Amino acid sequence: MTTSNLGVGIDVGGSGIKGAIVDLDTGEFVSERVKITTPKPATPKAVGEVVAEVVRQLEWDGPVGVALPSVIKNQVAVTAANIDKAWIGTNCHDLLATHLPGRELSILNDADAAGLAEVAFGEEQAKQNGAIFLTFGTGIGSAFFADGKLFPNTELGHLLIDGVEAEHLASSAVKDNEDLSFKDWAKRVDTVLHEFDRLFNPSAFIVGGGISRKADKWVPRLTVDVPVIPAKLRNRAGIVGAAMAAYEHVKP
Ligand code: BGC
Repeated sequence: MTTSNLGVGIDVGGSGIKGAIVDLDTGEFVSERVKITTPKPATPKAVGEVVAEVVRQLEWDGPVGVALPSVIKNQVAVTAANIDKAWIGTNCHDLLATHLPGRELSILNDADAAGLAEVAFGEEQAKQNGAIFLTFGTGIGSAFFADGKLFPNTELGHLLIDGVEAEHLASSAVKDNEDLSFKDWAKRVDTVLHEFDRLFNPSAFIVGGGISRKADKWVPRLTVDVPVIPAKLRNRAGIVGAAMAAYEHVKP
């Protein structure tokens, strides 16, 4: 299937590789979400095969956008914090083109993809002034927006706070691994947000990732003096943003 205002986005995460056909006028899924467990190790070749399988299951033959947990410059992965280190230096476009020949492909950072979707279809304050979008999952992803325009490849999850990377302190994986209560985890998120605020002074933090579904359990506990707003698209955002990137030929 290919239709002009539809697109496919694939979000490569630490636990699953997820994709869907997206209506790019509304940001809604128009297919089931296909999810395949992330191969271990998540090497470029293994992930490429799964991405192609997701596209096959969606019966899609148009452009494909892929969101990866890496800094992506000129379609080359520069970092690989939560996927196999073999990604570093890989031209993701060329790699995926071997699995999906003849396609229009766009590869971008997963938090940037999710942030783009939130700006287009989600929270109004993401479009205004200097907003920082954050995703809490296996790591902490970040996307910076100035009046809705993306400054790509920011990596706030790796900012050192008292010598510890922000995502090692306060990702939602850390909450699970250390069995932290929302109260204790929120204290850590608060520490992280205070530091981000001190350095970047955003007009708002928009918080996404699966754990934003339970925002009422932790957002009200935060003391940072900037609005913290749960993302509207939640874990749909990465897929929608990746589909938008392919459709709009965004190729960081
Ligand atoms: C990666 C980022 C990614 C974030 C969320 C971090 O560990 O360095 O590139 O956006 O995790 O997946």
